Amino acid sequence: MRFTIAIDGPAAAGKGTISKAVAWHFGFAHLDTGLLYRAVGAKVLAGAGPVAAARGLTSEDINGDLRSPDVADAASRVAVIPEVRAALVDFQRDFANRDGGAVLDGRDIGTVICPDADVKLYVTASAKVRAERRFLELEAKGTDLTRAEVLSDVVARDKRDAERDEAPMRAAGDAVTLDTSGMSIGDAVAAAINHVKLARHVG
Ligand code: DC
Repeated sequence: MRFTIAIDGPAAAGKGTISKAVAWHFGFAHLDTGLLYRAVGAKVLAGAGPVAAARGLTSEDINGDLRSPDVADAASRVAVIPEVRAALVDFQRDFANRDGGAVLDGRDIGTVICPDADVKLYVTASAKVRAERRFLELEAKGTDLTRAEVLSDVVARDKRDAERDEAPMRAAGDAVTLDTSGMSIGDAVAAAINHVKLARHVG
């Protein structure tokens, strides 16, 4: 059985948590495609060239700690390079087409990687809400960044991701938008699962 769920949206909108929970609920595999770009970004911070880093990416590269703000920023910068994106396409499509169902989350899954996905969700929230969530996560890990700095990082990354020429972040025409600004994460997960259930009945 092949069943693909594409979940896109900006940073810290809740798509990672939602994707994991949806995958777990339906017994599907999950790929956080941001990790691929983060792994390339981390290699570039360590001195590699972005295109060579993307072409030579291995599964070990995506296992390290790639959650820092510097790596997120580097990921968003390498993600504008068409050759970097091209080098990562086949891996993502192979994952999406695996037997048993797959959930992929990212920025261009519903538009470019899996335009024929069975379910497409665009998970978003206001920049203020997303920055506050990201700030609380970083604060728990002991960050020096202020709320204002986290907000400006989030806004700058959204702008770069949405305004690039190649596969910009946007909702596919046939995606359902889930705005999690006023929702608890539990409610957002429940809404996403309900949407997938409905689509599986109809499809
Ligand atoms: O989802 P994330 O925050 O881990 O993603 C990090 C960066 O990677 C994001 O700012 C843009 C890029 N990215 C992308 O361009 N396309 C994807 N499908 C996933 C991530």
